Amino acid sequence: MIPTPHIEAKNKGDFAKTVIMPGDPLRAKLIAETYLKDIKQVNSVRNMLGFTGTYKGKKLTIMAHGMGIPSAGIYTAELFNNYDVDQIIRIGSCGSYVPEIKVYDVLLVTESYCESDYIEIVTGEKTRVATPDANLTAHIAKTADSLSLPVTQAKVHCTDVFYRKNFDDYIKIHSEHGCKAVEMETVAIFANAKAYGKKAACLLTVSDSLVTKEVTSSQERQNSFTKMIEIALASA
Ligand code: HPA
Repeated sequence: MIPTPHIEAKNKGDFAKTVIMPGDPLRAKLIAETYLKDIKQVNSVRNMLGFTGTYKGKKLTIMAHGMGIPSAGIYTAELFNNYDVDQIIRIGSCGSYVPEIKVYDVLLVTESYCESDYIEIVTGEKTRVATPDANLTAHIAKTADSLSLPVTQAKVHCTDVFYRKNFDDYIKIHSEHGCKAVEMETVAIFANAKAYGKKAACLLTVSDSLVTKEVTSSQERQNSFTKMIEIALASA
């Protein structure tokens, strides 16, 4: 059924088969205005902005998914299930758990561990590790390589809790689960892709380090974000 409770577009064709999703609605708008031609706004419900246009002649949608597993879970489920979207590439930010992953690095997610039951509830699989589509992820890695933009493949922690009681939890989560960075949405997107027989992948730029406590400046954050966007656009 369309429209859905959260997306107002009246036609499935308002969305491209591939949707690139940042968390922030204004970033979605900026990316669409900067990189796409002939853009049309396809969603404004709750200000979760979405735009469809063309990139190098190919139809493409950029839409935000908001913050956290529940928000990303709602939008990606409706895109896959109600609007026949085939693949979603999340482009987000993350915090580093290890010294070798530095602020401004671009990561390509290989696995995502969470403390939530989301995966089991959505797919029926009793696991706390969600995986992206292997072919789409390999395609993104190859595309990054062809653009000479380095990406580091990494398992991440997909958390529900930004402000934890114990800041040092990340040390244990890294040693027990092998997570090298933290973000808040991949599990929902990967699990939904599996549940609906679709594809999902995720690129991240490192915006802060839990190890060094470094945070990025807005200018440099924008530069590393640009690299990630270019990889995602070229992969779509
Ligand atoms: N925690 C969770 N999500 C994040 C972080 C963080 O430190 N940085 C960017 N996304």
